[in-house]
Amino acid sequence: MEIQKVGVVGCGLMGSGIAQVIAQAGFSVTVREVSDELLDKGFQGIERSLQKFVEKNQLSEVEKKATLSRLRRTTSVAELKDSDLVIEAITENPKLKKELFAELDRLCPKHTILASNTSSISITEMAAATKRPERFIGLHFMNPVPLMKLVEVIRTIQTSDEVFETGVAFAEKLGKVPVRTWDRVGFIVNRLLIPYLLDCIHALEQGFGSIPDIDKSIHLGLNHPMGPFTLLDFVGLDTTLYIAEIMFEEYREPRFAPPPLLKRLVAAGWYGRKSGRGFYDYSDPKNPKPMNLQLT
Ligand code: 3HC
Repeated sequence: MEIQKVGVVGCGLMGSGIAQVIAQAGFSVTVREVSDELLDKGFQGIERSLQKFVEKNQLSEVEKKATLSRLRRTTSVAELKDSDLVIEAITENPKLKKELFAELDRLCPKHTILASNTSSISITEMAAATKRPERFIGLHFMNPVPLMKLVEVIRTIQTSDEVFETGVAFAEKLGKVPVRTWDRVGFIVNRLLIPYLLDCIHALEQGFGSIPDIDKSIHLGLNHPMGPFTLLDFVGLDTTLYIAEIMFEEYREPRFAPPPLLKRLVAAGWYGRKSGRGFYDYSDPKNPKPMNLQLT
């Protein structure tokens, strides 16, 4: 099946990035947010990101303008009704997602594929809110979407082979590298990433090293682009806690249980970069300082 028109619901960090890469690949995209203010914020992020590519000579001014011209904005879900594919990237709330998919299912023609960018909510459960579970997949992009190559393409026991392969081919058309996986909480990336990040918090609590020394060990010792605490702050501690809790609920294995320190940081409102504090203090964003967490 040929995808031409794409709808994206949600213009936050992930939704705006997803809309951007789809428009950069030459597709027309309509992006829906609940308010003009949120659309403004998302579109400013897209412009900034495109500008960074221009500054790095990875995109011309002409391509930037063409990309922006392929992006339409709306506050109405009904305007997505002509889409061949709709990708949902709203807040991780199962009830809201199911309501949205039920509405999209009523509005869109039979051939439209519905997809979720969720990192942790069951694809099967969301598909069950529609009358087209065979045309439902997960398309899980990585943050920051414009820079990260991977897309996890997720099928359920109901997804048709044709729809699944259309999802894989679509990710390739975006210049991304798709991987195929099943609907199990965490898919591939978070199944491996979350226990690793939680274990790094345990290592900190157990006194193996300081926040910067554990970060340096992984960054310089293993050549990861970011150490675990920098990455935790980048992903968001609230997001990590949310995913860990759902994974623990699904698998009931201690490796997915969120450490008390993570829960306390989130309870304190220290979510990482986005709130200005997490394992580091971002008062000076170019020069983050490790927090003194008084663990001993
Ligand atoms: N568009 C958007 N952002 C851009 C950009 C562009 N064109 N060019 C650069 N950036 C951003 C970077 O994110 C970073 O943000 P900042 O402005 O707030 O500091 C900054 O610009 C750094 O720019 P650099 O040119 O120095 O970029 P780097 O070459 O250092 O690469 C990075 C940055 C790609 C983020 C790299 O550090 C990296 O790969 N980090 C690991 C990211 C990662 O692991 N992501 C996956 C998270 S897990 C996930 O998403 C799953 C979820 O379900 C939890």
